[in-house]
Amino acid sequence: MDFSRLPRHIAVIMDGNGRWAKARGLPRTAGHAAGAETFRTIATYCREIGIEYLTVYAFSTENWKRPAQEVSAIMGLLKKYLLEAVRDMEKEKVRFVFFGDLTPLPPELRELCRAVQRDSAGFEGCQVNICINYGGRDELVRAAQIFAAECAAGKREPEELTEKALSGYLWSTGLPDPELVIRPGGEKRISNFLLWQSAYSEFYFADVNWPDFSKEELRRAIAAYQSRSRRFGGI
Ligand code: IPE
Ligand code: IPE
Ligand code: MG
Repeated sequence: MDFSRLPRHIAVIMDGNGRWAKARGLPRTAGHAAGAETFRTIATYCREIGIEYLTVYAFSTENWKRPAQEVSAIMGLLKKYLLEAVRDMEKEKVRFVFFGDLTPLPPELRELCRAVQRDSAGFEGCQVNICINYGGRDELVRAAQIFAAECAAGKREPEELTEKALSGYLWSTGLPDPELVIRPGGEKRISNFLLWQSAYSEFYFADVNWPDFSKEELRRAIAAYQSRSRRFGGI
C-alpha cells in the first residue's frame, strides 16, 4: 500500500456478522457486537492514516424485514457504540454524520444520533458517515421529491436539475464520491448502497466476514485499488 496515494473516501458494506456468529455456534447478535468492535478499529485506523471520509452501511431500508428481536438488538448495539463514541470523542476527533431517515428509529437512539452529529461537527480528524435506515433508492426518491416540491413552489425550474444539483440533495451532499467500496462477507452485490455515488467506484470484495476484517485486510483493499487503472469511460 502506498501511503502517498490513499483514497480520500472509502465506503464499507459491513456484512457477514450473522455468518461469523453462526460459524462459532453463537447467536447472530454476538456477530453484530463483534462487528461493532471491528468498526471501531477500522475507523480509528482510517483516521490515523489520513483517510478523509469513511462511509459505513450499518442498517439498510430493507433490514427492517428481519425478526424484531434482531432489529432491536442492532438498535441497542448502535446506541451502545454511540455512547462510547461520545465518551471517546475528544480523543478521537472524528466527525460523525448520519445518512438515512432517522425518524423510524427508537426515539432515544434518534436523539443520540442527532446529538453526536451536532457535538462532533467541529472535529477535523476524519468524517465517518454512518448509514442507518439508508437505501440508495430511497435517497434518490427523497431527492426527487424535494426538488419537485421546490419546482412546484416556483423556486426552481426543471432544467436546473443537473448531475451536480441532484448530488446536492443526497445525504452525501458536498462529499467526493468514494473511490473505493469494500464488501466483506463474500457476497458480490451492492444491496442498495450508495447507488449514485458509486458510479465509478472501485469495488473490493473480501471473503472474510466483517468481524474478522482487519487493518491488514484494509491495507490489502487499498493496495488493490491502487493497482487498478481507472478510466472513467476514457482510454
Ligand atoms: C451485516 O451482517 C449487518 C447488518 C446487515 C445489520 P449480516 O447480519 O447481514 O450478516 P450475514 O450476512 O447474515 O452473515
Ligand atoms: C447489506 O447487507 C446491509 C448492511 C450491511 C447494513 P445485507 O446482509 O442486508 O444484504 P443482502 O441481504 O445480503 O443483500
Ligand atoms: Mg448480510
